[in-house]
Amino acid sequence: MLDVFEPQTVKVQLTPNALRVLEKRYLKRSSHGIETPEQLFRRVARAAARAELLYDENTDTKAIEEDFFDLMASLSFLPNSPTLLNAGTFSGTLSSCFVLPVPDSVEDTFDAVKNTAVIHKNGGGLGFDLSGIRPKGSMAGNHADAAGGPVALVHVLSAAADYIRQGGIRRGCNSVVLSVDHPDILDFITAKSDPNSLTNFYNSVSVTDDFMKRVKENSAYPLVDPRTGDVVRSLPAREVFYRIVDQAWRTGDPGLVFTDRINRDNPTPSLGKLSAITGCGEQALLPYESTNLGSINLVKMLSGGEIDFEKLKKVVRLAVRFLDDVIDINKFPTEEIEAATKRTRKIGLGVMGFADMLLRLGIPYNSTKAIAVAESVMEFVTSTAHEVSQDLARKRGVFPAWGQSIYGQRNIPMRNACCTTIAPTGTLSIIAGVSSGIEPIFAAVFVRNILDGENLLEINPYFEEVARERGFFTRKLLEELVTSNHLHERKEIPEDVREVFVTAHRVSPDWHVRIQAAFQRHTDSAVSKTVNFPKSATRDDIAKVFTMACEQGLKGITVYRDRSRELQPLCTSEIG
Ligand code: CDP
Repeated sequence: MLDVFEPQTVKVQLTPNALRVLEKRYLKRSSHGIETPEQLFRRVARAAARAELLYDENTDTKAIEEDFFDLMASLSFLPNSPTLLNAGTFSGTLSSCFVLPVPDSVEDTFDAVKNTAVIHKNGGGLGFDLSGIRPKGSMAGNHADAAGGPVALVHVLSAAADYIRQGGIRRGCNSVVLSVDHPDILDFITAKSDPNSLTNFYNSVSVTDDFMKRVKENSAYPLVDPRTGDVVRSLPAREVFYRIVDQAWRTGDPGLVFTDRINRDNPTPSLGKLSAITGCGEQALLPYESTNLGSINLVKMLSGGEIDFEKLKKVVRLAVRFLDDVIDINKFPTEEIEAATKRTRKIGLGVMGFADMLLRLGIPYNSTKAIAVAESVMEFVTSTAHEVSQDLARKRGVFPAWGQSIYGQRNIPMRNACCTTIAPTGTLSIIAGVSSGIEPIFAAVFVRNILDGENLLEINPYFEEVARERGFFTRKLLEELVTSNHLHERKEIPEDVREVFVTAHRVSPDWHVRIQAAFQRHTDSAVSKTVNFPKSATRDDIAKVFTMACEQGLKGITVYRDRSRELQPLCTSEIG
């Protein structure tokens, strides 16, 4: 036993909203009735523990099952939704993230369409790089002007993804990348100008350091036909950059992906370039690779008002082992995906509840202290995760492509080519009852619009605790806060509380980027984050943040200007 939790079997304590989400989506139904949350965590723990028999048939799987159960039941760590849904059942995959190649031929393209449908059926998000697709109107077969081009292909992929909802449970997220030097780039930038089209896809333009340099110096760059390698024409880099900015200002889409930065961290460069990013931007993968993610609840890593690094260490150790086990019990949608995933054994351990942890530490999100906390926590998580992966490599063997990896070159044993990733934790954070991923809190009291249009009222638990303790908790205050998010103007709330409860729209965009960069500096793969802008933000504000994102070493950037899309997942009626 790893002795992480006291008492041995943890009682699951869930918020009413968490229970609602679990009941509606995650708990299995059978002729015997509906699973309890305890039974769900037991099912997942048992399935993961069984994997250990592959390496040692004398393993005490009961002991490791108890540890895994306690890890999840205490809400210290949760694996990504597909693992919660499907582990220990006969259906579905356990991974959240997949990347499919889309080669430039009709047969291969429609294989990708088929695989898209299969992955969505199994429950996972997808990433595609369409930069290799010949431009619209190119020669195809013996016919001039026959090729549909990458933008038409996004519509085909989107239709396939839309046709299949993930096991009737949720819509899969998809991400498409097109290189800025593709001849169809201008059409791609505006591909989602109709807010009702491609709603299940997020588009990003992949830019090089050279392109960003040309934006700065205001020079032109070449557009290259990917099939022939011919330079088709040149465009002024700054003008293209401002077209991206303009469209992102209008609809939040496209974002940017910094391809050189991503590939500087590629653990297996000889296996190929990382060009596609998965559903919500957190993971850059090679063609056919998939990853299973999991997130540590940072609120649970506090003891006596401080970060308990001893506990964090134990939780990371167990979580990495759990995620590595999941690879072995996973069901993969296709054989190619299984082979590519097992070749590098990438896992994605991340964190959630960062903003809620800061509240409890009395640190405002937009402060240098918050950056220091972000760096120390993530540096610790990644270095510990690497230690565990090395231990596992000694016991279970290195990942098969290790010899071709940067670790093989340095003779560092590793079980997993990549260990850490920061996921959005859209649903996991509701189950854990904490702020999502590394995002600031949205509001102290708000209406969450989830579950097919159902609205759930959410009160930040720490806000409620402090408000009751310090005597300003009233029904009237809650009602007024939900209709107007002006917490910082409420005189009945003590000043020190107002200072710490900085909501997303009071965090200026550059602080969003700084926090993302602090996490990125210590994360193997990428960091999923949305930089929120008020409705009044200008195009120049967006341009500044795009430039800053590149300078700060982010791997990608996603922005959202308040009310620039019709349906917002989180809303208070007025954002201050
Ligand atoms: O919290 P949960 O595990 O449900 O998911 P998340 O952390 O919000 O998203 C992680 C990944 O799951 C995304 O990058 C997508 O690849 C995938 N996802 C999806 O396919 N469909 C969704 N509706 C949400 C997430």
